[in-house]
Formats: sequence, structure tokens, C-alpha cells
Amino acid sequence: MAGSVLNRWWVKAAAQGALAVAPGAAMLDDGIRRRLRGPALEVDYFLSKWHHVEQHLHALGNPGGIPLRRTRAVEIGTGWFPIVPLGLAVHGGSVVTIDKGKHLDAQRVRLAMQLLSDLEAAGRIRTGSPERMARLRELLGSSRSSTAAELLEPLGIIPRIADARDLSHLPETHGTNLLVSNNTLEHIPADVLRGIFTEFRRVGSEDARMSHYIDLADHYAGHDPRINEFHFLTLGPTRWRLANNSLGYQNRLRIDDYYRLLEETGWRVTRETLTRRKPNELEGLRLVPPYDAAPPRELLVVKAHLLTGRA
Ligand SMILES: C[S@@+](CC[C@H](N)C(=O)[O-])C[C@H]1O[C@@H](n2cnc3c(N)ncnc32)[C@H](O)[C@@H]1O
Repeated sequence: MAGSVLNRWWVKAAAQGALAVAPGAAMLDDGIRRRLRGPALEVDYFLSKWHHVEQHLHALGNPGGIPLRRTRAVEIGTGWFPIVPLGLAVHGGSVVTIDKGKHLDAQRVRLAMQLLSDLEAAGRIRTGSPERMARLRELLGSSRSSTAAELLEPLGIIPRIADARDLSHLPETHGTNLLVSNNTLEHIPADVLRGIFTEFRRVGSEDARMSHYIDLADHYAGHDPRINEFHFLTLGPTRWRLANNSLGYQNRLRIDDYYRLLEETGWRVTRETLTRRKPNELEGLRLVPPYDAAPPRELLVVKAHLLTGRA
């Protein structure tokens, strides 16, 4: 580890790891995010999430810009800006967005709504429900200070704090026909994912579909140009235990692990879009078990959009 002390990814991992064990870690992390990033929401970031909205719409046979009929969706992993729920809502869908942490606030929700409104007015994104867009602009124009829920609920979005493994106390999720996630599954341990997929199968309608966007790359690579997206597959159990932490947890699951979990829980992949890197990206890396025995085709997948139906 000594040689890697100055590596930026390791500094990030060590700082986040220290924060993760502090009392009130989630709140501290939230405060630091606010300080470092300010209240701003970048257009590029918004558009990258809007791309997920379009992928989820495609899952329902909607090319975007067309009203959704009878779509009740559940999103797991609301995060900090409810862009995907807003995207489905301004196409006419209703959405219950679930997170076990409370990251939303009125300011962030307003920022996402404002950018959505601006980008639609500029013709850069399409929406499918003029009524919902009018309501969204009305809410933005109102000077009444509102909570995140007060801004979202009139648009058909219900934010809930819950662990998605147990939705028995959230009847509003029962009978939903679309279950989605965005950049979330890779942050959840395999056994928890098994519980979530099982619960989604239980509460989903007979024709329920799941649409998941998963980022399988080493997220530390985004903080350090000296490592690539497969670097975390070179860390043995002890080093990985030190590098991984509850605030930025990564499960390191490979695409075949997701296929297995879906199959075990009664889901069948009906369509997929995979982004695979070139085999030379693995050259020179000393992969640790079990990755050293996995076929490169499986290892090289860094992004996946999986669409599933009941098996
Ligand atoms: C990376 S963030 C979500 C990012 C957001 N979807 C986006 O695209 O910006 C993952 C979220 O999943 C939530 N999460 C993790 N496990 C969960 C569970 N079992 N039930 C509900 N939410 C969970 C975390 O609290 C976290 O806010």
C-alpha cells in the first residue's frame, strides 16, 4: 500500500473511509457534497440522467415525447436530484421514488425542475404531458416555500424513505408496472440485491418490467487518471476492505453476476445494451480471484442497461 499512498484514488478512499465511520456519517457526507459542489446542477449531468429517462421510456415502447398511459413506476435510489422521476412524470407516469437515505431537499428539487423547464423550452429535451409541464412551471413560479415532497407530489411523484427489500408498508408501490434504477445497483451488496429483486417481483404487476442502468466500472477511476476502470479487480480482500466503505460502497459484481441474481429471483433479461472496453484495457493488470478466472468478455463490460420481464 505504501507505494500507492500518493495515488489520488487512495486519498479519496481513505478520506471517505474515515468519514464513513464517524458518527452521523451520512449527514456529514451530505454537508461536504454541498460545500464542494454548491447548489449547482450541471446541464451535462442533467442530460446524462435524461438519457436514462429515454432508455426507461424505450423499455415501454415510448420513443420519448409521447404520453405514457397507465404507467406506475418505482425507482430505487432517488439520490440527490430526482431527474429520472421528473422525466417519467412529465410524460404522464406516476412514480414512487425510494431511497434508504434522505438526500432530497426543496432546493435540489427546484434546481432539477428549473433545468427541465429550461431545456424543454430550448427544445433540447422532449416531454409527453403538456399538463404536467404546465403544473411544473406553476410550482416553480410560486413564491410559497415548499418542501421537496410538496413540489413533487402535485407532479405524480411520491418520495419515500425505505429499504427497497421490504415494501409491505408502501401500498403505493404495489401493482407497479415499471421498476427502475440508475447508477444504483452497483452500490448495493449482492445479497441485498437478491432481496430487492425478490420484493420487486412480489409487488410488481403481472406484466411488470424492470429497467436498470448499471455502472460496473471502478468509480475511483473517475478521481485518478492513473488507474483504469478495472483497477479495483486487482485488489485482494484486505486491500479492498480498506478501500471500500459504506458511503461510496461498490459491489464489484460483473455482468454475469447480475444475470445470475435476476435468474435466481424470477426475472428474465429481455433486452440489453452493454458497453464493453477493448481487451487491451486488462493488459498488465494482476487480477485477483475470482476475477482472474472470469472470461474477459464478462470482465470488460463497464456499463449495462438491462431490461427484464418476469421469467
Ligand atoms: C448512487 S446513489 C443514486 C443515484 C441516483 N439514482 C442518480 O442517478 O443520481 C444510490 C442510492 O441508492 C440508495 N440505496 C442503497 N441501498 C438501498 C436500499 N436497499 N433501498 C433503498 N435505497 C437504497 C442509497 O441511499 C443511494 O442514495
